[in-house]
Amino acid sequence: MEPLKVGYVGCGFMAQKVHIPNLTMMPEVELVALAEVRSALGRKVQARFRIPRLYRDHLELAADPEIEAVCVSAAFDVQGEIARDLLLAGKHVFMEKPMAVSVAQAERILAAARAGGARLMVGYMKRYDAGNELVKEQIDQFRASGELGPITLVRNHGFCGDWTAGLDAPMDRSDEPMPQSTPQPPAWLPPEQFKPYLGFLQQYTHNINLMRWFTGAGDDVRVRHVDLDADGYTGITILEMGGVRCVLESGSLSYYRWDEHTQVYFRHGWIKTWAPPLLLRNAPAEVEIYRGGEAHSFTRPLPKARWSWSYRRELEHFVRQLRSGEPFRSSGEDTLTDVRLFEEIYRMHLAQRGLLLA
Ligand SMILES: NC(=O)c1ccc[n+]([C@@H]2O[C@H](COP(=O)([O-])OP(=O)(O)OC[C@H]3O[C@@H](n4cnc5c(N)ncnc54)[C@H](O)[C@@H]3O)[C@@H](O)[C@H]2O)c1
Repeated sequence: MEPLKVGYVGCGFMAQKVHIPNLTMMPEVELVALAEVRSALGRKVQARFRIPRLYRDHLELAADPEIEAVCVSAAFDVQGEIARDLLLAGKHVFMEKPMAVSVAQAERILAAARAGGARLMVGYMKRYDAGNELVKEQIDQFRASGELGPITLVRNHGFCGDWTAGLDAPMDRSDEPMPQSTPQPPAWLPPEQFKPYLGFLQQYTHNINLMRWFTGAGDDVRVRHVDLDADGYTGITILEMGGVRCVLESGSLSYYRWDEHTQVYFRHGWIKTWAPPLLLRNAPAEVEIYRGGEAHSFTRPLPKARWSWSYRRELEHFVRQLRSGEPFRSSGEDTLTDVRLFEEIYRMHLAQRGLLLA
């Protein structure tokens, strides 16, 4: 089969350190074009990765008829608008999270996909981590067999540390100014709360999205309780996902790696997964299963893809599902739920502190 002709928009940190190197190593992809508004930076990255064409911005790239699909990574509140224009132009899009900063924006992006007849996948790489895939398989098996009884609690502890894990991939830089954005926050959000809202949303959208996948809850999710510090980041959020209580512990500390684990408790045991520092190449999450009862045991199953990187696997999934027509595991439609939840969490947080606009 001919490789998929792919374009890339925005050649900043994630593009240069993660996605472009991965794309250039995938035989199923031909990276034919790059778009970057900071043109000197674009030229450097184009030359380093030998990308045939460079465009001034995403709209120019969208007009290239050879391009079938586009990958996008830009500022939190910019990339959704880029994705929207590309989808309207009929290009399939893989975009970094967060898809949108408000439900209204998310709905406009999804409407663009329908209008353009194009498909959108959001980069929730944790769903493609080979260790987490094993966890999901085990949860579904335990639920079907009833071996460990019902799920009683899901807990995600997500304290941020150094996520870069010393990744030494080269990076071109530029003094050119970053493009201006016109953010589209939720109408009810006080302007001075946009930054903390975005900080919490962009980080913990990963963790909530992972718990939603583990529980198979889809859109059957609501926020039960929010207890965040004045920083709008550190604390505890309790959600209900498909009838299961799910706890998110959020915060950060000076830690040389990444302090994140997710534990799914059944009445008679648990499954636990430890996230690797995100940019640690080729290290899947580590998994532990405890079976309680008379003859109890710990097991530490290992995924078949022993040395694999979630970021590479998500792009492989994108190409595979485009080819087969099968749905994405982290589609734009599914992500709408995450965007809704973050509006709900922050509304509760600000209401408790008397900071909501009247
Ligand atoms: N999945 C993860 O683990 C993970 C980790 C880090 C960051 N991210 C996400 O990646 C995204 C990108 O982050 P980053 O640090 O790489 O960004 P960045 O700011 O380093 O780079 C973005 C680039 O996009 C360019 N750009 C902006 N508008 C453009 C347009 N219309 N056309 C062409 N180029 C344009 C900018 O000039 C800039 O060079 C963020 O939204 C973030 O949430 C995800």
